Amino acid sequence: MPQLRAAVILAAGHGTRMKCSMPKVLHPVGGRPMFSWAVGLARAVDAALICAVVSKKTDPVGKLAASELGGGAVMVQDPPQGTGDAVRMAAGVLEGFEGKVVTLYGDTPLIQPSTIDRVFMALEDQEAAVVVLGFESADPTAYGRLVLREDGTLDRIVEAKDASPQEKTITLCNSGVMAASADLLFSLLGEVTNDNANGEYYLTDIVGLARGRGLKVVVVTAPEDEVMGVNSQSELATAEALFQARMRAKWLAEGVRMSAPDTVHASWDTQIGPDCVIDPYVVFGPGVSLGAGTHVHSFSHIEGVQAEEQVSIGPFSRLRPGTEISAHAKIGNFVETKKAKIGDGAKISHLSYIGDALIGADVNIGAGTITCNYDGFDKHVTTIKAGAFIGSNASLVAPVTVGAGAVTGSGSVITRDVPDDALAVARGRQRDIEGWAESFRNRKKRK
Ligand code: UD1
Ligand code: CA
Repeated sequence: MPQLRAAVILAAGHGTRMKCSMPKVLHPVGGRPMFSWAVGLARAVDAALICAVVSKKTDPVGKLAASELGGGAVMVQDPPQGTGDAVRMAAGVLEGFEGKVVTLYGDTPLIQPSTIDRVFMALEDQEAAVVVLGFESADPTAYGRLVLREDGTLDRIVEAKDASPQEKTITLCNSGVMAASADLLFSLLGEVTNDNANGEYYLTDIVGLARGRGLKVVVVTAPEDEVMGVNSQSELATAEALFQARMRAKWLAEGVRMSAPDTVHASWDTQIGPDCVIDPYVVFGPGVSLGAGTHVHSFSHIEGVQAEEQVSIGPFSRLRPGTEISAHAKIGNFVETKKAKIGDGAKISHLSYIGDALIGADVNIGAGTITCNYDGFDKHVTTIKAGAFIGSNASLVAPVTVGAGAVTGSGSVITRDVPDDALAVARGRQRDIEGWAESFRNRKKRK
């Protein structure tokens, strides 16, 4: 029988050490809230039941949790009285669950699914009643310490504030991840008291309680880079740096060429195909996928963009959500796009704003072209059909369609649809006044 798994995500603390009005678990790593990292982790290890403990259903954390897990899976802990008290809030949903439960903290965003798999497996492989995920910390100061027995199994966890000077020298720390069967977990939690330095109900106390019942508790370890907790803005920045390093290393291993990888900034879901080249100083916001052989030149900011193969982007491109770029298209310097479908081989090479637009295959958009998509109230669509040529410095006042193969004269303000293969010119005619410039200069000089 495959192991039945559940996860409880703790997210009811405000995180006062962040010194920020936004709750800690909403702070992003790789553009994704730390809370959502925990949900993604629980899903990745096939948890059949995932529930979250929040401080209010109506605050932003409660709303995010309900949108990701469904309202029925969100429990309220008000007021927060410690991690043990928090897990207890999940009893209503998990009591009677005939499987194993893992606790995940909403402030440890870098844990890998394979590590949680090892935690679950250790319950069986090592015939343990409780498994704790631990790590060797270079700076254990604030972490709970794992006190081992001589046989290497876990005796108890002591929180930093309650630790003796002797215990403070221990460098093996608690990550917050623990697994046990649901019935044992809630039965142990029923015995946890708040007799400690913080006056809180500690989840960590279940280890000593399990030992008191003669049960075996073991530690599984992972590197600190993976299980570090975020309590301050400084630790958030450290977690972000670790995440970025992980993404860059993965891409380099997959053959993505980056001459200055440290200057390329990824989001949690950035996808880069084979044979892509990413030049220095490129930022990927969420929702980007680049097809094979795409080249992103320096100083481009790209979010919510799907690009097919062999696309060229930048330098200095600002591509916003809803941009879909077909193969071999080119988007050049100082071009901004938003909600734009750009056809095969189309070129938007310089200084343009293309928003709410459908651009056909092989269209050429001249420098300085603007789609005037907004009238102050509504957004309107500009359609430019295959093979059309938009002369430089055009304003296309949407809603408007330029027909296939049509040409618009440079400097035109196009307010009406242009038929296929027509030339549209919408600007003042040129007039030459012979000698005017010379007489103007002479007048000025005389003054
Ligand atoms: C906790 C552990 C500590 C461990 C460290 C790892 C306890 C008692 N201590 O300490 O052993 O080394 O994490 O990072 O478990 N939360 C609630 N309700 C509460 C309190 C906290 O939901 O009443 C949530 C928080 O939102 C957070 C998580 O639990 O996501 C951890 O809480 P935090 O206060 O950061 O615990 P630490 O002091 O870091
Ligand atoms: Ca913490």
